[in-house]
Amino acid sequence: MAKPTTEEQYAAKFSGSKALFENAEEIIPRGVPHDAWQASPFPLFMTRAKGSRIWDVDGNEFIDYFGGHGGKILGHAHPVVVNAAKEQLDKGIQFGSCCDLMLEWAGIIQKLVPAAERIEFTNSGTEAVMLGVRLARAYTGRKKIIRFQYHFAGGYDAVTVGYKKPFNVSVSGGVLPSAVEDTAVLPMNEEAILEEALKNRDVAAVMVEAAGASSGVVGIKPSFYQTMRDLTARYGTLLFFDEIVTGFRYSPGGVQAAVGVTPDLTSLGKGITGNMPGAGAIVGKKNIMEMFLFKDENWNRYKRVSHFGTFNANPLCAATGIAYLKIIADGQPTQDANRNARKLRDGMQRKLDEREIPGCVYDSNFSVIHVYLGECHLQGQCDRVVCVNAEKERPSGIGEALYQNLALNGIKSPTRGFDLFVSAVHCQEDLEKTIWAFGKSLETMVEEKILS
Ligand SMILES: Cc1ncc(COP(=O)(O)O)c(C=O)c1O
Repeated sequence: MAKPTTEEQYAAKFSGSKALFENAEEIIPRGVPHDAWQASPFPLFMTRAKGSRIWDVDGNEFIDYFGGHGGKILGHAHPVVVNAAKEQLDKGIQFGSCCDLMLEWAGIIQKLVPAAERIEFTNSGTEAVMLGVRLARAYTGRKKIIRFQYHFAGGYDAVTVGYKKPFNVSVSGGVLPSAVEDTAVLPMNEEAILEEALKNRDVAAVMVEAAGASSGVVGIKPSFYQTMRDLTARYGTLLFFDEIVTGFRYSPGGVQAAVGVTPDLTSLGKGITGNMPGAGAIVGKKNIMEMFLFKDENWNRYKRVSHFGTFNANPLCAATGIAYLKIIADGQPTQDANRNARKLRDGMQRKLDEREIPGCVYDSNFSVIHVYLGECHLQGQCDRVVCVNAEKERPSGIGEALYQNLALNGIKSPTRGFDLFVSAVHCQEDLEKTIWAFGKSLETMVEEKILS
């Protein structure tokens, strides 16, 4: 009897998820509530998660490398965060009024993040970005924003260009051309092109995913941070870092604290609440954030930036955010996660090399590692840590096959297996099993002629 294919094994092993997905499609249009959870041939349905582990409806245990979209550097259900949530549940989760914990929470963020002279809480990263764009436009009196190719910034209409080719077309139907006509998309790391785009002095903000596109898939040359800072300052444009993933992961104060370049504005999310849903904030320099102040009637009605949100800075998010950020603050979780990522990166690279499969595993200097399978025209010219090759292809068929094979071997990656978010709580055994599973997945993908 022929050996079952990867897809056949996936369908058999995850039959409970398959059944739920088939039912879900009858109620939820694409069967999943987030575009990125769409998986081939169907997504897995999970029941619980703890530490580095996650369990599906069929009782399968996985080592998790999506970590709640990258926020969970302390793993799932950290006991200190869970206890903070439990205690707060009894006291109340939303007062429709400022909560007692708001200042302590904001104070920790202010200490950690260099740009955070002032903080406005939102309910998601997407909202933080949306408010940041509005603020940049109001403060500068300019309309245009600049983004970089392949950078992701959530679902707000104005930033739905740039993430995918063709870069000038929104990734979504229903986004009016007028919503994106003031968004320019540039290649990363090109000083002359950036300067040319800023020269007219009509750009409100340069927006940057702070470790590079999709958490470093296409990285930023270390010297380019200062270049962006100098050029934006020269032409009166705000520098806006999206640190929604990197904020409390790249370092406790994000990329900006690590590279020593302070942007004018920063969007934060995920870890800011200890990964409690409702995670978001726009933070920035005091003079810019003063656009939110109430002043006289004319200012309030025609100039100030308005900001609403029923659940803004609610006590549940504040309690878990305080508990989480206090643990993050001493930098140990970042160091542990980075060390784990380097071990994984090197071990996975060895698996590619042993099988003479062309490719590279790299980590952009932090705890998110990326797999590139294929030849690279920059081979031999780069440090294999930060990848600035913007032309490399990551075919979804290969990403899906890698995801399926990893899942069959007990590893839960995002639904394309190219990116792994490593935490401080992945243990040595987790890492070794993952390296083994990666090798096994490559073997099967060669057997099934997905890789040559
Ligand atoms: C870089 C970046 N910006 C913005 C967002 C949007 O955040 P949210 O999903 O909280 O709306 C994300 C989410 O993954 C992100 O990774």
